[in-house]
Amino acid sequence: MKMSMTRFEDCLTVTAPAKINLHLEVLGLRRDGFHELAMVMQSIDLVDDLELIATEDGIVNLISDDPSLTTGSDNLIIKAAELLKNVSGSRELGASIYLRKRIPIGAGLAGGSSDGAAALVGLNCLWGLELSEQKLINMAAELGSDVPFCVAGGTQLCFGRGDHLEPVQVPSDPMAVLLVKDPSVCVSTPWAYGRYRELNACDYLENEIEFEQRRQDLREETWLRPLRAADPAPLRNDLQKVVAPVTPAVQNALDILCNLPEALSVAMSGSGPSCFALYSDIERARNALQLHRKTFEAAGLASWCCSFRAEGVKLGL
Ligand code: C5P
Repeated sequence: MKMSMTRFEDCLTVTAPAKINLHLEVLGLRRDGFHELAMVMQSIDLVDDLELIATEDGIVNLISDDPSLTTGSDNLIIKAAELLKNVSGSRELGASIYLRKRIPIGAGLAGGSSDGAAALVGLNCLWGLELSEQKLINMAAELGSDVPFCVAGGTQLCFGRGDHLEPVQVPSDPMAVLLVKDPSVCVSTPWAYGRYRELNACDYLENEIEFEQRRQDLREETWLRPLRAADPAPLRNDLQKVVAPVTPAVQNALDILCNLPEALSVAMSGSGPSCFALYSDIERARNALQLHRKTFEAAGLASWCCSFRAEGVKLGL
């Protein structure tokens, strides 16, 4: 999280980047009903922007350029604002928020989580609350499992529900992804975890010692120290095993990406349906997009090229 560059005292902009999962491994079930995970998450430079203006009427008003987005109390931006107001004890704090949406909704790219993270960081600054990054990360976990990662960003090992972060060394030459998604398809995250549990619960690890052994195995993976094209992430997503067989748009996207000549590896992100191919650099990813744009279009897939990003939510454009 970068705290520099406020534009005006009572008005600021926050950038909210998407993420992909380089590794998503379901270890077992937790007492709270969530799954115990071992993940590597990576910020990418596909971003939403939030413009925040302070008001003193106690009302938080959200509008967006995407009419399909709900802007009421179920939006994580509104939930983040309410959480901050409760912690501050100041009911008169208000804000007008404009959300410029670029991250596709319901895509497995943490767009909603990142918007919530951006609201926490931005309103903390706008309202002069001076809460520490660690305090914001703790509050972020109340909003959702991916929100703490979105505050911190970069490359992180994410354990527990996904909210226990351990930073990974930032690569000197950022890799890139070619990302595709069928705009007409959404996958429900609770459904994906529920289905995974139905099919795999008999193989779940059962105790903290076994969980910790898998965490340690992941920490010691050579492809993570640091991330580099010469030893690319093998990419693993356990949810892909249950989502792809029943979601033709995902299976089709994976098949197309797997046939791209210079792609290092291919996977679904989060609970899908977005899928991505990993490239050593943005130029190679752009070339692949240019060469295969018609194939993606014919398959009904929207496509993007993005570099890895070394940071999460950021104040200022
Ligand atoms: O935390 P978040 O709101 O993103 O989680 C959405 C849903 O995904 C949860 O309600 C749960 O069904 C599933 N989930 C899970 N284990 C996790 C994270 C999410 O089972 N670690």
